[in-house]
Amino acid sequence: MNEEIRVDSISKKEMYEEILPQIKSLVDSDGDIIANMANVTAALKQVFGFFWVGFYRVMDNKLVLGPFQGSIACTHIAFGKGVCGASWKEKKTIVVPDVDQFPGHIACSSLSKSEIVVPIFVEDQVVAVLDIDSDRKNSFDDLDSCYLNILVGYLKF
Ligand code: SME
Repeated sequence: MNEEIRVDSISKKEMYEEILPQIKSLVDSDGDIIANMANVTAALKQVFGFFWVGFYRVMDNKLVLGPFQGSIACTHIAFGKGVCGASWKEKKTIVVPDVDQFPGHIACSSLSKSEIVVPIFVEDQVVAVLDIDSDRKNSFDDLDSCYLNILVGYLKF
């Protein structure tokens, strides 16, 4: 296993193109879902320098904090609440260019300015979400949505 994720180019698309195969191989090499989620958060944080990267898992009908990189975060999120709960409820990726404009946004840190949440499915049920926060507005777009949806597909829950 490589000890670090390598990125030699600069555009966001190229960065995703470089890291996705590396993350796929990293994830495939270990079947434990906690270990895999932990490494995915570390890789995304290292490569993109996002403010916060983490998973919430659906447990007992709520989202429970899983492996993450960044500052401490809220441990439970109810169905439909915040961006994460909305992504779970609506079963879709949600891009928030400005968290202050998202009704019900849960502010785990006042430094978070924009956010993307990607739901993860087993069959048609959401089993977890990948949540990424940026300390700048407008950090995420359809490109992030596209590649992050591919990335979460590597995780076998
Ligand atoms: N902002 C999220 C809560 C989780 S933290 O960002 C880590 C939300 O509104 O669901």
